Amino acid sequence: MPPDAAEASSSATLSLPDGRVLQLPVLRDAAGATFLDVRRLYPEHAVCTFDPGFNSTASCASAITYIDGENGRLLYRGYPIEELAKHGDMMDCWHLLLRGSLPTKAQRRVFQREARGHRMVHEHLIRFFNGFQHDAHPMAIMVSVVGALSAFYDKDHGVDYDDAETRDLAGLRVVGKMTTLAAMAYKTAHGQPIVYPRDDLNLAENFMYMLFALPTRAYEVDPVAAKCLEVILMLHADHEQNASTSTVRIAGSSKANPFACVAAGVASLWGPAHGGANEAVLAMLEEIGDVENIPKCVARAKDKNDPFRLMGFGHRLYKTTDPRATLMRDMCHDLLSHLRSRDPLLTLAMALEKTALQDEYFTSRRLYPNVDFYSGICFRALGIPRNMFTVVFAVARSVGWISQWCEMAGEKPQRISRPRQMYTGAQERRFVPVAERGDGDEEEDEGSFGSLESVEKRIVDVRVAMPHP
Ligand code: SDX
Repeated sequence: MPPDAAEASSSATLSLPDGRVLQLPVLRDAAGATFLDVRRLYPEHAVCTFDPGFNSTASCASAITYIDGENGRLLYRGYPIEELAKHGDMMDCWHLLLRGSLPTKAQRRVFQREARGHRMVHEHLIRFFNGFQHDAHPMAIMVSVVGALSAFYDKDHGVDYDDAETRDLAGLRVVGKMTTLAAMAYKTAHGQPIVYPRDDLNLAENFMYMLFALPTRAYEVDPVAAKCLEVILMLHADHEQNASTSTVRIAGSSKANPFACVAAGVASLWGPAHGGANEAVLAMLEEIGDVENIPKCVARAKDKNDPFRLMGFGHRLYKTTDPRATLMRDMCHDLLSHLRSRDPLLTLAMALEKTALQDEYFTSRRLYPNVDFYSGICFRALGIPRNMFTVVFAVARSVGWISQWCEMAGEKPQRISRPRQMYTGAQERRFVPVAERGDGDEEEDEGSFGSLESVEKRIVDVRVAMPHP
């Protein structure tokens, strides 16, 4: 629950230009960080804060994940990610994030049975996949079919999310079904028959089975590869209030259906500045091609006139190497040696990391590899194609999304998220009826897209750009 202003350890004095002097409660969190409690600034004092991108703003209180960006530490409910990755599995991670504790042996047995029982999706939902072109991006498919789950689990079907047990059940359904839908998105995008889930395999094994099994031959899951995928899923499971998790929380604050909220999270994750970066890293490495091209790539990343950024580098919170990147890099080595294969992109990625970390531009801005820098190389070694990288990220992050949604939905009172803005528009002005507006030049109008001819061309362009039905 968010702390009350009354729990403030001290206060801060805010002197305003109009002479007013305000006292703001100062709160400290479990990690000792300091927060100015500005909740009463508006409307009581008619003052707002301005923080686009929420660089210095806490949007909620949460007990699920903690990131120490200065020291490169990531804790899930207090457990270091390195220990979970080494000694735990997705059942532990999922139960921990959703319910707040590592399951006992008996709890694991029950949780695993139920988690595996929610992998099937309604046959009518499978029909949605027929509507996509064979070359539809799997993330476009996921945005659609995850949102469609809300039509099967909503108030009209007796599902009341005001009930804590029903919210917990959503925590099992979302993850179980997203894994199945992700595999179905892959099969659809590759023109292969859909493979139904099995409940005799763990989450990663079942996911690989649904991805790669074919009706033409038996498919045996490689346990080492499945374990690697399981760790990758754990590393991506949650990460405080990142863009997609904040999207899920804001959507959920209006009491929207949790499956619809998670679909909004899928949409946000898809962006290349966020979860889409893993795809972009591989494209960047393939474009670099050879270590001799690294200096040119680094120069572009530093050039303010060039929109190019070093994908997989930098992070809003981590000001040293993202601990997940380190684990991912080590896993790349282990997996490639297990598969007795080499990937020149791994060598290239390590050379790029070394060059960047010797460059003052990156070190002065404390830009280090993040979770996406090596994940694509691991996915490639697992046989997962590039357009599925962010889908795998979404499957993993569905654990965090629904855990954070449950935490938010359980808060009383639950307030809708409604940020303020700085207004930069026109002052009030008189409406001008169209008859009085004169002709003017179509090209001159603000925001118009040129002349009628160009608009006609655009309409034709859009029709031509659409794939043949
Ligand atoms: C994820 O939030 C999360 O937790 C996300 C995530 C999770 O698990 O949910 O960790 C997953 O999204 C990881 C990030 C994946 N994205 C990328 O790898 C894309 C490349 N990275 C950048 O776009 C950027 O670093 C961000 C988006 C990750 C962070 O952006 P910020 O915090 O808004 O930083 P910024 O844009 O203000 O950059 C500060 C400076 C700027 O230069 P100056 O204006 O100071 O001169 O650093 C520069 C930026 O130009 N900079 C980069 C850079 N990232 C920042 N320059 C070159 N290459 C980069 N990658």
